[in-house]
Amino acid sequence: MRTVFDTSDPATNPYDLLTSIVVPRPIAWITSVASDGTGNLAPHSFFNVACARPPIVSFASVGRKDTLRNVLATQHFVINLVSEELSHLANASSAPFEPDVDEASALGIDLEPSALVTVPRVAASPVSIECRLHSSIKLGNSHLVLGDILAITVADEALVDGHPSMEALRPMSRLGRDEWGRPPEVMHLTRPERP
Ligand SMILES: Cc1cc2nc3c(=O)[nH]c(=O)nc-3n(C[C@H](O)[C@H](O)[C@H](O)COP(=O)(O)O)c2cc1C
Repeated sequence: MRTVFDTSDPATNPYDLLTSIVVPRPIAWITSVASDGTGNLAPHSFFNVACARPPIVSFASVGRKDTLRNVLATQHFVINLVSEELSHLANASSAPFEPDVDEASALGIDLEPSALVTVPRVAASPVSIECRLHSSIKLGNSHLVLGDILAITVADEALVDGHPSMEALRPMSRLGRDEWGRPPEVMHLTRPERP
């Protein structure tokens, strides 16, 4: 037996279902800057790689939030990886701060200059992905934002043989409701040859 959740039934809440089913989701902790220069920092877990070459990432804003407004206005953003020790700060930055408040300064989160874009990155985050707005698509109550990746920076301590190491990055993920996923246990499977 299965319970069928018909999305045309008003009693069905697809957001609650999907955020508990499409898991674990990586977390983009996004720094952005408003037209008046006000900084902003907020986590977004509707986040993925959208294109390999050219490298493009996507995130989705459910509703019109400060991050979305800033990216549409100033065209740039930086995705910072949330390592385990940054979980509480990343969560704290998701509070509904007023648009004129910079979450990073309100919460005492140190930022530092990025490599190629004027939007700063989170200093304690081991990875930053510097993006320029590619395009955005309005989908119902959400906006899908695509960003061309201009640079990826990785802390040297997180590189093993020049490659980002899962053990060193220890990325957190988002599950359903208020659940977060700790860094996963890694197993290796060799990709099969063409049969
Ligand atoms: C781990 C985590 C992931 C989140 N993912 C998203 C997301 O993908 N899209 C979204 O619109 N809001 C998401 N939120 C909620 C936003 O972070 C929250 O609404 C925040 O206040 C938006 O900030 P802003 O208005 O400064 O952009 C998430 C919250 C948390 C804690």
